[in-house]
Amino acid sequence: MSRIRLVETALRDGHQSLLATRMRTRDMLPVLERLDLVGYYSLEVWGGATFDSCIRFLNEDPWERLREIRKHITHTPLQMLLRGQNLVGYRHYADDIVERFICRAVENGIDIFRVFDALNDLRNMELSIKIIKREGVHAQGTICYTVSPVHSVERFAEMAKHFDELGCDSICIKDMAGLISPHSARDLIRAIKKVTCLPVDLHCHCTSGVAPMSYFAACAAGVSVLDTAISPFSGGSSQPPTESIVAALQDTAFDTGLNLELLFEIKRYFESLRDKYGSLLDPIAERTDAGVFTHQIPGGMLSNLVSQLKQQNALDKYDEVIRELPRVRAEMGYPPLVTPTSQIVGTQAVFNVLSGERYKMVSREVKDYFKGLYGRPPAPFDNNIKKMVIGDEEPITTRPADSIPPQLAILRAEATELGIMRSEEDLLTYALYPDIAVRFLRGESKEEEIKPARVESKPPVVEAPVSARLFEVDVDGEVYRVKVTPAGEAEIANRLEGAPKRPNGRIKGGVVSPMQGVIIKLKGHLGQWVHKGDLLAILEAMKMQNNIVAQEAGVISEIFVAEGETVIANDVLMVIGPDERKATPS
Ligand code: CO
Repeated sequence: MSRIRLVETALRDGHQSLLATRMRTRDMLPVLERLDLVGYYSLEVWGGATFDSCIRFLNEDPWERLREIRKHITHTPLQMLLRGQNLVGYRHYADDIVERFICRAVENGIDIFRVFDALNDLRNMELSIKIIKREGVHAQGTICYTVSPVHSVERFAEMAKHFDELGCDSICIKDMAGLISPHSARDLIRAIKKVTCLPVDLHCHCTSGVAPMSYFAACAAGVSVLDTAISPFSGGSSQPPTESIVAALQDTAFDTGLNLELLFEIKRYFESLRDKYGSLLDPIAERTDAGVFTHQIPGGMLSNLVSQLKQQNALDKYDEVIRELPRVRAEMGYPPLVTPTSQIVGTQAVFNVLSGERYKMVSREVKDYFKGLYGRPPAPFDNNIKKMVIGDEEPITTRPADSIPPQLAILRAEATELGIMRSEEDLLTYALYPDIAVRFLRGESKEEEIKPARVESKPPVVEAPVSARLFEVDVDGEVYRVKVTPAGEAEIANRLEGAPKRPNGRIKGGVVSPMQGVIIKLKGHLGQWVHKGDLLAILEAMKMQNNIVAQEAGVISEIFVAEGETVIANDVLMVIGPDERKATPS
């Protein structure tokens, strides 16, 4: 039995889980000195979605944020969340980028790297761990906790043993969906402690409501570190509250020894931030959802699904998507649902439901997944589905990054040519997010504004679409019968800002968009002859890229869309007319 140490997550996971990762650096600075006095095990301040969010929404340099925080935090170790070979992005990067990124992160102030891989594939973490150790800082090997027919305590403990062999300094159990029950936490920690002497850190989310109990069970089983968030940024899909855990463990063998008075002072500061960012508080993320025990969807992903369905004007399909999701996950070999697999599995479930036919629409990411480019899934793929997605192609069995050639030199030349590289950090920002980094590094990005707080925040009610209804309206004794019809898709198209008018619906030879999204590539041109199956356009929907191909051979006779335009479901993108050459008698 020993004292429990705490990781404070408010500056990373706390606001990522509750505020869509929108907290600004300037709002963190005033409280840093006080946080440094608490005596936390570490402050989690960087990585995960914070990097992306900084350059995409906040017009902030994530590296500058890290340096600023480091300036004010002189005693407490700074921690980041690293997605193994994905670093802080959504795909695998070349080894030379991984190496340079970690070196610069250490140089700018990171002391502890929590390294995970969405498939728990060690091959995607080995290189990061090796470099972190070479740089002389703390490597925390992470087990993504999930429940499935193929996951077991033994299998997770085996992972912990491998992390020990790789030279890790501690083990993290990352329970991103908040699923781990008190007895599972106890069994898992005991099993890990049997195979390694490394300290164990339990990271839970409160989504299902059991996290504080699991924390207590973990203490009894020998956990060393628990992740908590200061109370205004705790609960729901965030971590258990720091002050409550400190109070609960006081005067026991697990006493954290932290000063509650100081924590209350810090809490008051974060309360003011909660008010300031009130409009961003996601009602879905904030509530307890015991449904997670069946659907296993982490809080952040759930709010993502709802916003995707809203965007597609298909919120009525919510329940269907929630039922489809575990099925897709099983077919994909039971990946834990965490970035980026949560997005890949979730979007495929949405596609399967919205397109009315399973795997009719498949994103590039899902194809890559079945090709083994994300790594080895916990269980084999469903063979029939694999065939539907990638045909007879065999998935690779080697480490995915082995097939990515070095990229740094090429990217350096590109960035220099573009005139956006003032530092080595700029080069890495460009390497990780080439699409949005250029604008950002040129200083052309704008900070998203923080809207005033909502008066009332209620979870959205999922309603079935209403069909036309008749109402009687009494005007000065005269009764009129009026028919009220919900706005149709055509009206939605008109409401889309700047969306050009184009035919919507099935027309002869029309190639229609299966859902709302942005046309990021247009392959065909007027008068072009296309074969059945030729690529006509790439539609980006829900962050996934989807190929739109010709269903019939013919000649492109009309095009209603340009690259960069937003389209809605059933918009006619182009028309393929009959093949004139066939019609001409020879
Ligand atoms: Co988390």
